[in-house]
Amino acid sequence: MVQAYLDVGIQSRMNRIITPKDNRVVMLAVDHPYFQGPTTGLRNMSRTIQTLLPYCDCLMTTRGAVRSNIAPGDLGSKPIMLRVTGGNSVLFEELSDEKLTVTIREAIRMDAAGVAVSVYIGSAYQQQTIVNLTDMINHAEEYGIPVLAVTAVGKNMARDLRYLALASRICQDAGARIIKTYYCEEFSKLVDWVAPTAVVVAGGKYSSPPDALQMAYHSVQAGAAGVDFGRNIFQDENPLGMIKAIYAIVHEDHTVKEALDIYHACLPHASKLD
Ligand code: 5RP
Repeated sequence: MVQAYLDVGIQSRMNRIITPKDNRVVMLAVDHPYFQGPTTGLRNMSRTIQTLLPYCDCLMTTRGAVRSNIAPGDLGSKPIMLRVTGGNSVLFEELSDEKLTVTIREAIRMDAAGVAVSVYIGSAYQQQTIVNLTDMINHAEEYGIPVLAVTAVGKNMARDLRYLALASRICQDAGARIIKTYYCEEFSKLVDWVAPTAVVVAGGKYSSPPDALQMAYHSVQAGAAGVDFGRNIFQDENPLGMIKAIYAIVHEDHTVKEALDIYHACLPHASKLD
């Protein structure tokens, strides 16, 4: 009976993250300052979150960002994907030396719908980060909270199918309920090889609206549940246009051209985020 109860809990939280009506998700990633500091577009975190929160399904963020920038009433029913690993900064060459930095009790206290753990396959601290993932899964599953594994790419790793599929499958086998990875050629094979675990695609460094929208489109067409974009939204000159265009691709089966029309329609009223 307890197992059934836990399944209901996990499913309920998964449904808050990935919309059951189409099994898709637009996740907005604003967790970057945990190691990058005042990232462009996130310097005024309150304004960025207030501007973009209404247009995403789920906010990937950190304990400090929530505490400092979101008044209890502002979240409404919007689910949080809470980052629970860290302990490093861009000032240090080896980014993979991460530890668990937030407890599952804190995640429960913050009503997180899920928790996110970065895993650095092929890096100096590979085993440490995999055990971070399994430790957190062991705790989180006890409370019916899904864990999202972030396949962070070590500096010497190629973002190709071989590497990303290896990293993603290791995360699935560890028990992650959602995997966040990067788009690559033959991406549908990666999705197949980790099925039925949901896959969301990170946007990576800022590129351009057409490129980012093309990536979002190819990702969901290849079977990804959705995207978890950050910089390609909040660093664009037209962030509202970007998130609305991405939403149209993920949830409304728009083409890239149709999504770009939405982006351009928002351009006259656009304002950059700091
Ligand atoms: C940064 C992260 C972000 O959640 C992830 O990279 C998605 O953001 P972006 O689209 O900017 O890459 O883990 O630490």
